Amino acid sequence: MRLSAAILCMTLGLSAAAGDPSTSALAAAGIDPTETRLNYMLNCQGCHAADGRGLNDIPAMADSVGTFLRVDGGRAYLVQVPGSTNSPLSNQDLADVLNWILLTMSAEQLPRPFTPYSAKEVGGFRAQPLIDAAATRALLLRQLAQQ
Ligand code: HEC
Repeated sequence: MRLSAAILCMTLGLSAAAGDPSTSALAAAGIDPTETRLNYMLNCQGCHAADGRGLNDIPAMADSVGTFLRVDGGRAYLVQVPGSTNSPLSNQDLADVLNWILLTMSAEQLPRPFTPYSAKEVGGFRAQPLIDAAATRALLLRQLAQQ
């Protein structure tokens, strides 16, 4: 009962934001915004905050995470960070959550054209765990700084 009330509120909230440019991009990527936002809330929001600004020492994803797709290894990194890869989400649901994060929180930083993650791509990256997320992040940021 409570969950359906919450979903109803979110649906209303989202329909109020129908003029948002990300709405058509989400539809083009085959994403159900209500279900995907709920998956983000349940699995990611506790650390990353509702708007992706990050809580405590967690890096902000808002207005930034899309830049990782501009360097080699960045696409894999976003899937392989522990919070993404170890979540209970299926490969399809994780692909949707990552595409939703990128399109709603960091659209301006995305390379053009942006190719959304597929379940297959996510599954491939998940099969190769990251040894040291912080070191990989630092390396990618150094590569970005040189661009
Ligand atoms: C327990 C806290 C926690 C949870 C839950 C969590 N993350 Fe994270 N996330 C982090 C931390 C910390 C980092 C920084 C890299 C690292 O040290 O792992 C990070 C980094 C990221 C990054 C790369 C951003 C950057 O600037 O480096 C992405 C993308 C990401 N997380 C996605 C997700 C997704 C998607 C979920 C939910 C399915 C999720 N995270 C759940 C803590 C979390």
